[in-house]
Amino acid sequence: MRISIFGTGYVGLVTGACLAEVGNHVVCMDIDQDKVDALNRGEIPIFEPGLEGLVQRNHAAGRLQFSSDAVETTRHGEILFIAVGTPSDKDGSADLRAVLSVARTIGRELAESQLVVTKSTVPVGTAVKVRSALAESGTGRFTPRVASNPEFLKEGAAVKDFMAPDRIVIGIDDPKSESQLRHLYAPFNRNREKIFAMDIASAELTKYAANAMLATKISFMNELANIAERVGADIERVRIGIGSDPRIGYHFIYPGVGYGGSCFPKDIRALARTAADHGHQARILQAVETVNQKQKQRLFEKISLHFGNDLAGRTLALWGLAFKPETDDMREAPARVLMEALWEAGARVRAFDPKAMPETRRIYGERDDLALVDDPYEALEGADALVVITEWKAFWSPDFERIKALLSQPVIFDGRNIYDPRDLAEMGFRHEGIGRRASSPDAADQPGNATAAT
Ligand SMILES: NC(=O)c1ccc[n+]([C@@H]2O[C@H](COP(=O)([O-])OP(=O)(O)OC[C@H]3O[C@@H](n4cnc5c(N)ncnc54)[C@H](O)[C@@H]3O)[C@@H](O)[C@H]2O)c1
Repeated sequence: MRISIFGTGYVGLVTGACLAEVGNHVVCMDIDQDKVDALNRGEIPIFEPGLEGLVQRNHAAGRLQFSSDAVETTRHGEILFIAVGTPSDKDGSADLRAVLSVARTIGRELAESQLVVTKSTVPVGTAVKVRSALAESGTGRFTPRVASNPEFLKEGAAVKDFMAPDRIVIGIDDPKSESQLRHLYAPFNRNREKIFAMDIASAELTKYAANAMLATKISFMNELANIAERVGADIERVRIGIGSDPRIGYHFIYPGVGYGGSCFPKDIRALARTAADHGHQARILQAVETVNQKQKQRLFEKISLHFGNDLAGRTLALWGLAFKPETDDMREAPARVLMEALWEAGARVRAFDPKAMPETRRIYGERDDLALVDDPYEALEGADALVVITEWKAFWSPDFERIKALLSQPVIFDGRNIYDPRDLAEMGFRHEGIGRRASSPDAADQPGNATAAT
């Protein structure tokens, strides 16, 4: 099939490359000319495992093209996907300007046979707005066909998720659109039925419901972690204890430094806003967001407390900057909240991340209180403590002797609970995790004495 995709970011590029991989002829369009030029040179602007080879192979085969020409791109596709960003607006609602701008552009050229599908995460009612925008700019020649096809890929596993999805949700209101989308997704639907066809409003809401549930699990565990610290329990034991119940399960119940990224924060806010616009106060969603905001401060509070609330002149080594492993995405990353708080308190940061350092440099530029180094151990040189923020695999089993030799104090703040506190105490470290007793070679900190909670 001939496919056009508007917006060539994490979602648009992965979608385009994967649809080209199964034989479609895809044109990916973006208004960012630098991005389009880079892609045409074979350079991939984001890090996503497996994406580079996929893009280059399909580009070379002529099945995947990149363009900044919206008119040509509109004319190309039998199915046109809108995959542009939907950031938070000031009031928390999803900012639909890019989505509707694309719709107006498409509308001028759209033919009756073409189907326009929204893949961006958008509030219920957006497909109706897209249809109106298409019709208005197309001077009402016909009623455009629209559909919703929310994307569930996870950054860090986006190609894998797209090629072997858990589900393919399609929101449609006419049989031809359903049939076209079933045909398009047939190669990804061979192992079992994964296509869930439903009305458009339900499809739009399904995406928010999924993200809201996942964010709720995270905030719930972080809430419990804070209780565990106060009562002297170990959240890791609690996690194992509750996960064994199949109604709860082990997935996504890890406490940590709060969720970030381009989706959960904005989607929780947007869903709460949609609820408010329809006369419902979404109290759970508000709590999920509030707990998360607080959790992003948690590591800073622990670090500050450890150093007697005086961080001026201290140096902290940070391992991990991206909002999660296997991505370079820094949008709403907890590391940003921590770094900014440390700088505010007069501390310096030496940081290493396997993929997110160029993006960090782009966001913060050159500054005296930030050193981005090429190796995790280099980050420790002259640092007062190590802080683990993103659980990249390379950090799971480090050379602790080397860490101890490089740090001025043997202290590790473990924002992802990847180390065993007792092992670290035996090796002579003070370890502070999330929702666990601080452990230390010092007898005063033996199990039973919870970290002073702030
Ligand atoms: N990133 C994810 O993991 C993920 C997962 C599922 C759903 N989503 C949703 O998908 C949508 C896109 O997310 P993303 O992470 O790919 O965003 P992104 O910021 O990485 O990419 C968006 C792209 O759209 C381009 N763009 C903006 N206006 C345009 C226009 N008028 N015409 C053409 N291109 C335009 C931008 O230049 C950018 O390259 C969002 O609604 C997001 O919530 C994201």
